[in-house]
Amino acid sequence: MSNIRAVIKGVGGYVPEYILTNQELETMIETNDEWITSRTGIKERRILKGDGAGTSAMVIKAVKELIEKTNTNPADLDFIICSTITPDFMCPVTSNLICDMIGAKKAFSFDLMAACSGFLYVLATGTNFIESGRFKKGIVIGGDKMSSIVNYKDRNTCILFGDGAGCALLEAEENSEYGIIDMAMRTDGSGLPYLNIKGGGSRLPASEYTTDNHDKYFIFQEGATVFKTAVTRMADISAEIMKRNNLKGEDIQWLVPHQANKRIIDATADRMGIGPEKITMNIERYGNTTNGTIPLCFWDYEKQFKKGDNIVLAAFGGGFTWGSMYLKWAYNS
Ligand code: COA
Repeated sequence: MSNIRAVIKGVGGYVPEYILTNQELETMIETNDEWITSRTGIKERRILKGDGAGTSAMVIKAVKELIEKTNTNPADLDFIICSTITPDFMCPVTSNLICDMIGAKKAFSFDLMAACSGFLYVLATGTNFIESGRFKKGIVIGGDKMSSIVNYKDRNTCILFGDGAGCALLEAEENSEYGIIDMAMRTDGSGLPYLNIKGGGSRLPASEYTTDNHDKYFIFQEGATVFKTAVTRMADISAEIMKRNNLKGEDIQWLVPHQANKRIIDATADRMGIGPEKITMNIERYGNTTNGTIPLCFWDYEKQFKKGDNIVLAAFGGGFTWGSMYLKWAYNS
């Protein structure tokens, strides 16, 4: 292993102003606040309004906040990687647009897709670029405009998702005791029937299908199967990371889980021996922002994280994809 660690030096975030409450959803579909709250933990979610506003409209706000807070000169960035399943365009991708907007002239950039596990995968990718010794500084981003692919007539899915974006600055530090320490990631592509967006790719191109097959462009989910798989896999992989690093529940200051369903989060924490006071949770306010959930948790809890805190991340998403990561927080704010 290299003696270079990838260390998180700062975080940024953005959620749109418009709040879609459970009460408003009650006027749109056959549902009620009690059902949504008890099954998912969600009370409200943010929606990006405005014609022509894509995911980059949120990402740019998060990234600008981050570079200001950390006093980063965009010209010093080596890379920008964005995880999203709702890019503004298929080409150029969201991270390319961000490079241009902030003037990151020497950075390379690309988007990465791994559904709700995406932020964990970009953090892993950025970490490995830095540990290679070739690159010193980069921004990893997770963000989605889920409202652009949610069918607001489908009560199985439209209650779950919201819009938002977050990001983190990664820097190389030699012989550091902080930063990303370990990671475990898995994929099981047989999840296709249970969670998918079938239209818009090369099998069902947008050019042929847009007019007659609207439903193919919306997210589809068989909730119960996804729920069962998520509970087991997120808990198993987090237990694996803990075992490998000799961590007991009491050694961990924070669990930062993907925010898909409060019951999945509670089950993972239970298995890890972690109490509710150590879980970062914002699902009640933002719902599932897909790639945005973990960086938005960083953003919301940054002031509570202390230098040296042991933090475990856990995610699960479509594919299926899942993973866990162990890091030591590097600063007080
Ligand atoms: N309001 C009221 N009733 C609803 C509803 C809603 N918004 N959505 C579904 N229902 C109904 C169903 O139609 C069903 O009725 P029926 O028994 O008459 O057929 C009943 O509620 C139970 O549905 P079910 O899907 O079994 O509920 P559930 O307890 O599994 O909860 C989810 C549904 C979606 C909240 C849950 O399955 C879940 O969170 N799944 C995983 C989500 C996830 O992690 N997704 C992303 C991965 S990153």
